[in-house]
Amino acid sequence: MAKAFSGIQPTGEIHLGNYIGALRNWKPESGSYYCVVDLHSMTMPWDPAEMLRNSRSTAAHLLALGLGEPSRVFLQSQVPEHAELSWILTCLGRMGELSRMTQYKSKGRGRQDVSVGLFAYPLLMAADILLYGVHEVPVGEDQKQHIELTRDLALRFNSRYGPVFTVPEPRISEVGARVLSLRNPQEKMSKSDPDPNSKILLTDGDDVIRKKIMTAVTDSGREVYYDPDEKPGISNLLEIAATLGGEAVEDLAARYRDKGYGAFKGAVADIVIGAVRPLRERVLELLASPTEIDEALERGRSHAHAEAGPMLDSVKRAIGLLVP
Ligand code: TYM
Repeated sequence: MAKAFSGIQPTGEIHLGNYIGALRNWKPESGSYYCVVDLHSMTMPWDPAEMLRNSRSTAAHLLALGLGEPSRVFLQSQVPEHAELSWILTCLGRMGELSRMTQYKSKGRGRQDVSVGLFAYPLLMAADILLYGVHEVPVGEDQKQHIELTRDLALRFNSRYGPVFTVPEPRISEVGARVLSLRNPQEKMSKSDPDPNSKILLTDGDDVIRKKIMTAVTDSGREVYYDPDEKPGISNLLEIAATLGGEAVEDLAARYRDKGYGAFKGAVADIVIGAVRPLRERVLELLASPTEIDEALERGRSHAHAEAGPMLDSVKRAIGLLVP
């Protein structure tokens, strides 16, 4: 498998959307890097104590998924090349292309009080990826546009200054690339949603998971079938259960078609509980052992820095900066 790079913000806790859309597809291959993007979470106001707690906890989730060896998990702020390359790309990126980013449009466009960082954020994300020369970036659907921008920047750089960057590809699964809120299946499941019942966390207990699924907003009618336009709530549960249970959406839908929503939701809850329980147990075990987390992060930092340093030097040479 090709080397991969991906990242996750340490804002709040990790939910089933993050897991199904992204983390599930992160593989512990040698040469792959998985980054807790703490600098990204400064694009919105933050609390310092919470930042540190959430960074460790997010790292614990990635380590619990087995991504610390031989692939590496590290904190973005501990590898200074990310911020440095980000500035260089800031001078290559264009106002027009950044203004078109839908994430910026939904959170910040037209508002005078949002940070410049919220606007420039995709350039830091491009720097994250391009420093490691990877082909593959496994992400959920909402990051696709940012990776297309990364590709455009890499191609622009290479044509102006010579072939330094690998042009990456997004890897997005067909099913589960956009997991929806359990309370409002028009919106994606999101860390920033204040309603705890809208999302299932990887640290939720069995009873909490069951309750959230049994009370998930579903659609009118009683039949279970897959139709994201007509039945967004049921289709969302079908995608969640199919990906976690390793079954095709159509097969699952066919088994529950005439059984009613109650029985179907009960089955979805069983599948989600069965998938989340072992992850939760490993995350909680690791959270109780901060030294283990910090040691793994230090190993990650040192490997990432060893790779990012020479890449940034190549960039500097190509654009006419003097490398010491
Ligand atoms: P973030 O922290 O918002 O989300 C982490 C990953 O989870 C995916 N995701 C979802 N997938 C399906 N359904 C959902 N409801 C859902 N919500 C989130 C995201 O697509 C993402 O893959 N900008 C990125 C972090 C980042 C990054 C990078 C990613 C920074 N640098 C370099 C890849 C490569 C972000 O804010 O993800």
